[in-house]
Amino acid sequence: MNQVEETMSYVYKNPNAPIEDRTKDLVSRMTLQEKVGQMTQIELCVATLDDVRNLSIGSMVSGGGKEPLEKAMASDWAETIDRFQQAAVDSRLGIPLAYGIDAVHGNNRFYGATIFPHNIGLGATGDADLAQRIGAAVALEVRASGIHFNFAPCVAVCRDPRWGRCYESFSEDTNIVRKMTSIITGLQGQPPVGHSQGYPFVAGRYNVIACAKHFVGDGGTEKGINEGNTISSYDELESIHMAPYLDCLYKGVSTVMASYSSWNGCKLHAHHFLLTEILKGKLGFKGFLISDWKALDRLSEPRGSNYRRCVYTAINAGIDMVMVPYRYKQFIEDLISLVESGEIQMTRIDDAVERILRVKFVAGLFEYPFSDRSLLDTIGCKLHRELAREAVRKSLVLLKNGKNPGKPFLPLEKNAERVLIAGTHANNLGYQCGGWTRYWQGSSGRITTGTTILDAFREVMGEKTEVIYEKYPSPNTLSGQNFSFAIVGVGEEPYAESAGDNSELVIPLNGSELISTIADRIPTLVILISGRPLVIEPLLLEKMDALVAAWLPGTEGRGITDVVFGDYEFEGRLPMTWFRTTEELPINKGDNSCDPLFPLGFGLTYKKENLQSK
Ligand code: GLC
Repeated sequence: MNQVEETMSYVYKNPNAPIEDRTKDLVSRMTLQEKVGQMTQIELCVATLDDVRNLSIGSMVSGGGKEPLEKAMASDWAETIDRFQQAAVDSRLGIPLAYGIDAVHGNNRFYGATIFPHNIGLGATGDADLAQRIGAAVALEVRASGIHFNFAPCVAVCRDPRWGRCYESFSEDTNIVRKMTSIITGLQGQPPVGHSQGYPFVAGRYNVIACAKHFVGDGGTEKGINEGNTISSYDELESIHMAPYLDCLYKGVSTVMASYSSWNGCKLHAHHFLLTEILKGKLGFKGFLISDWKALDRLSEPRGSNYRRCVYTAINAGIDMVMVPYRYKQFIEDLISLVESGEIQMTRIDDAVERILRVKFVAGLFEYPFSDRSLLDTIGCKLHRELAREAVRKSLVLLKNGKNPGKPFLPLEKNAERVLIAGTHANNLGYQCGGWTRYWQGSSGRITTGTTILDAFREVMGEKTEVIYEKYPSPNTLSGQNFSFAIVGVGEEPYAESAGDNSELVIPLNGSELISTIADRIPTLVILISGRPLVIEPLLLEKMDALVAAWLPGTEGRGITDVVFGDYEFEGRLPMTWFRTTEELPINKGDNSCDPLFPLGFGLTYKKENLQSK
């Protein structure tokens, strides 16, 4: 049989055949082993070419802290991923892999990639078009590395800043989160008019499979405890936390990731009502539902015990693909045994596999399974860095400007005589980028290419200006010295997930003390680098001449100087209520007792010194 005959006789191999015909044809040819293989996602560090080929593994993942090679560049990743993809394509039915990664604010694992502001900063912009353009840029940098599947965006509605993932949320306000789901249209491409709600969509080889996460209520847990329990009525869950998923489904999001958290004491990964009856039934989601990392292990105590029972519970609840990601042979063995015993119906398996294959057909993986090395030049390219710089500009929120009404402190003067740049975050690219950058928990220092606050000020200030950098200036070193003004960069060290859960929320690394030391002696602009609002004592606020919330801006520090020197206007508005003390948390717009330091939507501008809200 020649290739044309083969393509015509195997409907699933025919790129012109309808997606549903290709899906049904392929499922009808698959063994139970191959079906279960497609439902399995494994970590690169445990994968073998033989297993990917012989077990028909459906997906691979590079989790937060795993590198294929030390100091891997994107071209190394593409090489590695293509090798595993070849093994998948060489399998009996030739079903390609979908390789997944967390490119949550750029292709952030890679040295040299453009790192955009984290979602909380994008939420401060409130700019849906910007989010879409960022999504498109991220898609290119991800596909350049051979990766097809991005575990983003997080569409959590963060109701409590004590949550370690607050910065991964666009806002506490459901409507802002809904608006920013436009990033999906950038990541996947724009669905055609009339695209049916809930059906997956990926425009082509320059787009990625996106993933709305974590369904549902991850941002509403008690005290912001990560992976905790969201206690609410169904109506509250639906109106606050579920609403953004309707926008995601409308935009053709291809996958949804279940949340580790619970709703009213029942874990989402075990929740048939929410995963199947609501997401797949009522909302009509036709893509596939993926578990979170080792989430099935969390269904039992001690974790990972009675794994077969955990598999039974999660798959029957509606999970289609399991991010195992290590003990995949056990997962496969348990799932096959559960089907053979009738504890899991074959119809459930077929539903899961149809969803997975539908997404792979929609994403064109059968036609374009391998990396396109011509995209490597997009990684960290000037165009993307300019876009990231625009995003930084628009994300900055001006909280204070001047100690006396009518006498604004900003914009700064580029030809000032002598300037002090100080603080833990003034010259630290890793801090500026935050978690999920190069490493799961992020890191400190020159972890990639980019522009720190200090770099930016040095580039912008006039030749005559003397720029002095002191990370921790003491009163002694400052005494007797004259400065036109000081820039103090302070804030949070990088963190991710539960490592970021924090009930104190003070400015770390003695940031408040540092601000006092400097602001008591020199006119001072404070730039706060943080994933959320932090405690700012009234006395400390009084000492500052100006205060800018810069969130976690990423690699393009020039976006900050663009605005503080007045070349651009402040446009950012608070996406989170800025509380006074942690005792009052959670505090959200609309609460009866809501008397914050700065309300949701607050942001000063150069034009008007009054409260602005979008
Ligand atoms: C993590 C996160 C999830 C991420 C996944 C893969 O634990 O909860 O957001 O996509 O694992 O890294």
